[in-house]
Amino acid sequence: MDKITLKPITLRYAEEIQRLASHPLIVETTALPSPYPEEGARIWIEQVLEPRRNAGQEYAYAIIREDGTFLGVCGFNNIPADKARVEIGYWIGVPYWGHGYATEACRQAVDLAFATMGFQSLYAPILARNRASQRVLEKLGFRHMRTYTNTVYAKWSKYEILVEYSLTRHEWMATASGSQHS
Ligand SMILES: CC(C)(COP(=O)(O)OP(=O)(O)OC[C@H]1O[C@@H](n2cnc3c(N)ncnc32)[C@H](O)[C@@H]1OP(=O)(O)O)[C@@H](O)C(=O)NCCC(=O)NCCS
Repeated sequence: MDKITLKPITLRYAEEIQRLASHPLIVETTALPSPYPEEGARIWIEQVLEPRRNAGQEYAYAIIREDGTFLGVCGFNNIPADKARVEIGYWIGVPYWGHGYATEACRQAVDLAFATMGFQSLYAPILARNRASQRVLEKLGFRHMRTYTNTVYAKWSKYEILVEYSLTRHEWMATASGSQHS
């Protein structure tokens, strides 16, 4: 497995985010706008991420392979003031699928969330048809909590089924990764 690191997103990553996020297979199963707009990455970083990061509401990281290749994005969103329940999200550029990169990036993000950032639980709403994404979180110890029809995301029809996965700090402590931080 190649070593990967998470780096806070700045404008230096805008071009690579723009290139990889514009792929139809990335916007299809994420909350990203579809089709991905021209200048979408720069506008997101400047107008959404930076103010929300300054307010403690959202953090996003570039997933970087040891040879410097930009692989994708993972991060935390909808962070409440009490940090009780935080959304985790992620995508990997299509050319890099199937190498374990999402699992390793999310493992590092989960460790950061619970060991450093003081979050109490993480959750992810995932399209039921997106089995690869569910598998990523299952491998990290997340549990399936509920299944519901979409009323949350305007970009998907109300006939789409979503599944919600969750992991608490307490559950993370019992995982191999969490036990190294106890
Ligand atoms: C979902 C996504 C992040 C996975 O990235 P990845 O780097 O390929 O993931 P990994 O290699 O770490 O793990 C994928 C796992 O799913 C499995 N998988 C892949 N396709 C699958 C499918 N159709 N059905 C079931 N499992 C599948 C893989 O075999 C692997 O599990 P394994 O290690 O037990 O073999 C990537 O496909 C992606 O970015 N998709 C578009 C954006 C997206 O959906 N993001 C998540 C939104 S909730």
